[in-house]
Amino acid sequence: MRIDILTLFPEMFQGVLGSSILKRAAEPVLIKSDSTTRPPVCSYHVHNIRDHTTNRHQKVDQPPYGGGPGMVIQPQPVYDCVQAVEAEQSDTSARRIHLTPTGKPWTQKLAEEYAQLPRILLIAGHYEAIDQRAIDTLQPDEISIGDYVLSGGELAAMVLIDSIVRLIPGALGHDESAHNDSFSEGAKRLLDHPHYTRPAVWNDMPVPDVLMSGNHAHIEKWREEQSLKITQQNRPDLLNH
Ligand code: ADE
Repeated sequence: MRIDILTLFPEMFQGVLGSSILKRAAEPVLIKSDSTTRPPVCSYHVHNIRDHTTNRHQKVDQPPYGGGPGMVIQPQPVYDCVQAVEAEQSDTSARRIHLTPTGKPWTQKLAEEYAQLPRILLIAGHYEAIDQRAIDTLQPDEISIGDYVLSGGELAAMVLIDSIVRLIPGALGHDESAHNDSFSEGAKRLLDHPHYTRPAVWNDMPVPDVLMSGNHAHIEKWREEQSLKITQQNRPDLLNH
């Protein structure tokens, strides 16, 4: 999957894309068990919208018509940036995504859908908004990561990238699995059960007996019960679907 990111703050992405699973997903990985190499499962291309301004001072924002607080990103640099970036690999059409608090809620189901695509292009606005005419012309999917307002779409873009990339086959190693996570189909979209590891007793607290029993049917049943209990406690809305 090719992932294009359009932002006014490219430096924000370095740490996140250069660490952990997202970093490894973009690298070839030697599989020790059979000495084969799996190719990168994705590539990241971060672009600065400011590089597509046409004015001398590289200004991208202006006050809103009609008045009000904040600044609005002008349509031209956003539109031109999308055109230039898509032309870099014109044989692969990109699903355009605009991160905005007015978008549709992001869900695991959408992450599973987007993980199948050959290319996504994320537009991260900043300041008050992007001029609506750019949005109307580009017709991106509009996505919100939650009912709160961030300073810009960058963190939301990173959330989408993380939740999508880890679902691409080969992104996670053998020991990591996306299937039993909270919200995944495998977990019937309940929250995940609690997890325990060594030591068997810590601060006078033992690991639940059932997990030490070796009885896989009992363990499975206990985990399902725990999932249901924590979902009832924290997300009863998930049970009414
Ligand atoms: N930009 C600002 N707030 C946002 C949110 N909640 N989701 C997506 N993009 C945003």
